[in-house]
Amino acid sequence: MVQIVSNKDELSIYLSALTGLENAKVAVLVDSNTLKYCYPLIAEIEELHKCEILEVEPGEDSKSLEIAAHLWQSLQEFEFNRTDFLVCLGGGVITDLGGFIASTFKRGMRFVHIPTSYTGMVDAAIGGKQGLNFNGVKNQIGVFSEPIATLIYPEFLETLPERELNSGYIETIKHALISNGGLWNKIVEEEPLSSNEIVRKSTEVKQGIVEQDPNEKGIRKALNFGHTVGHAFEAIYKSELLHGEAVAIGLLVELQLSVELLNFPLQEYKTIQNVISNFCPITVELNNVDVLIELMKHDKKNDGKGINFTLLNRIGGVEINQYVAPDAISSAIKKVFGK
Ligand SMILES: NC(=O)c1ccc[n+]([C@@H]2O[C@H](COP(=O)([O-])OP(=O)(O)OC[C@H]3O[C@@H](n4cnc5c(N)ncnc54)[C@H](O)[C@@H]3O)[C@@H](O)[C@H]2O)c1
Ligand SMILES: [Zn+2]
Repeated sequence: MVQIVSNKDELSIYLSALTGLENAKVAVLVDSNTLKYCYPLIAEIEELHKCEILEVEPGEDSKSLEIAAHLWQSLQEFEFNRTDFLVCLGGGVITDLGGFIASTFKRGMRFVHIPTSYTGMVDAAIGGKQGLNFNGVKNQIGVFSEPIATLIYPEFLETLPERELNSGYIETIKHALISNGGLWNKIVEEEPLSSNEIVRKSTEVKQGIVEQDPNEKGIRKALNFGHTVGHAFEAIYKSELLHGEAVAIGLLVELQLSVELLNFPLQEYKTIQNVISNFCPITVELNNVDVLIELMKHDKKNDGKGINFTLLNRIGGVEINQYVAPDAISSAIKKVFGK
């Protein structure tokens, strides 16, 4: 269940209904930012009065086996059982990490996601993928496992740094481009960034796609739009780019390929280019394109037939399993960078 709640009372009602059922024990997983900025907003909820707080450092490094082991240890010391609850209160790092440790502790205890970042709300906390990084590879260890509920309270975005907000918003732009439900029109009409309506529509696109293809055999690949190129940029420019900022470049390159290979309308491409550059302008210098191509060749989404893309023939016109030659990719990257 994914539920958008518009005020604290509503959040409290849902959380109480979920956690109060059998007098379950509750632990809340936070990082130090969400402990400071988000936990106080929900601390008054009765069920949370006696909760245990599990705190980790903010950042991607917390999605590790070492931290997971430390958290399992705490759950064991608190004598948690499968019927007890873990509330994951944070961005994608907290929901991925918390979803993973809950799903594996005693073969699976119950958990609730309360995403507090934009990325968490429209992406990470929806779709049932929970996991950790391992040996330097992102999301290498994980499970498909659904939380009892994902409760989205957009008010949390008030304290999210603007750069994180803009970066997360790129996934909403992606959702708009791969769907037909009018989200793109809303974005062009310049609705405010954290409008509940846009958050809701964005989560519905992800949910709708995941429900059709929970195990990523087909149409779920639509969600990879922008990510074949985006992940390569994210790997090379990891100290400079947030995920959404890398995906913004990925969207532009993959739209360029869509124009060239699938006749995506050029005029629409220009409009999209303008919208994207409002949120995440390209700030990196293009160095070695060959290294980017090498990374794409080793992308885990490939299946031996070449570099696998999701492209568009129009807004909402998704074409999965498009194999594109390295030369065409290089030239599209150079075009996007004006070279
Ligand atoms: N499971 C999935 O399907 C899926 C999908 C997309 C992304 N992800 C994962 O999500 C992670 C990225 O998510 P993210 O961008 O939310 O990262 P994050 O959890 O690191 O949050 C970004 C930063 O914002 C802070 N923060 C979060 N909410 C805040 C708030 N309300 N106020 C102030 N600060 C706040 C965090 O402490 C952190 O410093 C990656 O690990 C990625 O792999 C998973
Ligand atoms: Zn993404």
